Amino acid sequence: MKKLILAVSLVASAGVLSNTASADEIALAKKSGCFACHAIDKKVVGPSWKAVAERYKGKDAKAELISKVKSGGKGSWTEVTRGVPMPPYSPRVSDANIEKLVDFILAL
Ligand code: HEC
Repeated sequence: MKKLILAVSLVASAGVLSNTASADEIALAKKSGCFACHAIDKKVVGPSWKAVAERYKGKDAKAELISKVKSGGKGSWTEVTRGVPMPPYSPRVSDANIEKLVDFILAL
């Protein structure tokens, strides 16, 4: 019985992450090193990606976020990070992959 409950709750917590499109993007984020400082739904060093999605919901923030991931920066999440900056990722991560990651984050 305990095993069954555990299995059910694991499936439930995988939730939004269970489709293949996001599995690709999770792998990309892992490979790119993003999860050293971010998690989907909790703060690590940087803000949780769900919090990022929530803040920019309904706003046209994609270009701004792409440029933040490319060039790094700080000041948007000081209350969460106490001023730690987001490092620059271009050209370590290709423009196409940065766009993919930002689309993924904004859709969370
Ligand atoms: C060394 C730690 C670190 C790593 C690694 C890191 N980030 Fe960040 N990230 C941060 C911090 C800190 C902030 C908050 C910056 C601020 O206050 O403006 C942030 C903010 C962000 C934001 C929100 C930007 C904004 O202006 O609201 C996005 C999107 C983001 N990161 C995506 C990524 C992606 C994608 C990767 C991997 C390619 C990544 N981060 C890797 C630390 C990190």
